[in-house]
Amino acid sequence: MKITISPTPLTEQKKDAAVVFFQGTEALLPVGNTKLKKLATEYVKHSAFKGQAGQTATFPTAGKIAAKQLIVAGIGEAKDFHNGLLEQAAATAVRAGRAAGLKSFALASSIKLKGVSETDYHLLAGRGACWGSYDYSKYKTTEKKKATPTLVFAGAVKDRSAIKTAEAQGAALLSTADVANGPGSDSTPENIAKWAKKMAKENGLSCQVLGDAELAKKGCGGILAVSQGSAKGAKMIILKHAGTNKKAKPIVLVGKTVTFDSGGISLKPGRGMGWMRYDKCGGMAVLAAMQMIARMKVKTPVVGILGAAENMPGSDAIRPGDIITAYKGKTIEVLNTDAEGRLVLVDAIGMAADLKPAAIVDMATLTGAVIGALGAAASAVLGNDAQLAGNLIDSASTAGERLWQLPIYKEYTDDMKSDFADISNISKSNGAGTATAAAFLQEFVPEGIPWAHIDIAGTAWLESAKPHQAPGATLFGARLLAQWADSIKG
Ligand code: BES
Ligand code: ZN
Ligand code: ZN
Repeated sequence: MKITISPTPLTEQKKDAAVVFFQGTEALLPVGNTKLKKLATEYVKHSAFKGQAGQTATFPTAGKIAAKQLIVAGIGEAKDFHNGLLEQAAATAVRAGRAAGLKSFALASSIKLKGVSETDYHLLAGRGACWGSYDYSKYKTTEKKKATPTLVFAGAVKDRSAIKTAEAQGAALLSTADVANGPGSDSTPENIAKWAKKMAKENGLSCQVLGDAELAKKGCGGILAVSQGSAKGAKMIILKHAGTNKKAKPIVLVGKTVTFDSGGISLKPGRGMGWMRYDKCGGMAVLAAMQMIARMKVKTPVVGILGAAENMPGSDAIRPGDIITAYKGKTIEVLNTDAEGRLVLVDAIGMAADLKPAAIVDMATLTGAVIGALGAAASAVLGNDAQLAGNLIDSASTAGERLWQLPIYKEYTDDMKSDFADISNISKSNGAGTATAAAFLQEFVPEGIPWAHIDIAGTAWLESAKPHQAPGATLFGARLLAQWADSIKG
């Protein structure tokens, strides 16, 4: 979505719609917008719109301001506010406008909202508006492709950089969403690797792809075990952003990229299995984040590693009871072939550790258990370094995404012991599925490397429509990873 800046006030913008955010009954317009504030407040007073999160309403302006329509969008009450609600309100407004055939949108250049700086507002509202303009329509033969809408921030802007960032991040999200929403037959490890190479070239990143033969030579027995039941080969995709701070150690972002998780021989039940095409969303978040990081010219060096494989049953598939050797030599007893994400991740984490990084952060749709713990309201973060987890939680909060920390107690690590190999891929006891998975991963992180694991199984995609988004990939995690990478001074 093209985003521009214009000094002409919002009331004089000749666009299809002027958008005003509401916190409950309060229009969040900055001082100097008395006329528009009055008008907006008057309209909503006589409507069902109460400024709740996800609520929106459209009013014809009948010439009272230059825009044809006034769209109001709610962010809920102050006590429930988090940055994500502002981003979602912007997306909701654009989605509502587009459904009514509107193409050009105008927003005030600043907002009166406690705890949200002008630059945060620019990034959240700009990025949200872009997200609201997205449709996954590749396989819709009857729908006409809608024109790409435009957005203008109206009024004085001191610092334009966050608006430019919003536009760049929006573009990264939209292009990656097409890959993330692709079915397993289309977004295969090979096609994702091809797409990553193209994206890298366009954005000044380097990209290296390791196929089955190279992975076998390196001893990456985890990712190969997962993909051995599939006719589609595995790919380890390594993207590098050099950064300007040549002396700094890189941070490494690792993404689980299981293009379809049938469960393998430990086959999943049929109901809802189609959603397992979104089991690649950790990798998709890393892919989008790498594109954002390149466009933002982040100072610190960043490496992205995607472990891409398909988990299928078949005569060559890994069997429960098989013992495999992961990269670096640790043996794993595979007691459940559906706990495959961790097998892919440990090879990628091993390769990340080879880079002597400042930190490793992995992102994965790893456990159904995290949905039981946090639902879709937050993702879980776990790890070996309190400061790293804290920094990620803070970056997430600024970026409008929520993280909640879970512990990795020794009991969880003990539960992962195997009688026949170094470690088992499932826990001996029931419960704490998210933490035992993290405890498993932790065993593959060398001493002294700060590491965090983010489980996005509950947040990576929507199964039913929300006002701000149609069903499909959310790309949760991309925004927080870009925010965190950009915050690193070193
Ligand atoms: N991809 C799934 C986790 C998942 C489940 C993501 C539901 C999103 C929604 C993962 O590979 C898996 O199957 N995990 C198992 C682990 C178990 C066998 C220890 C799970 O969570 O049930
Ligand atoms: Zn699985
Ligand atoms: Zn999985």
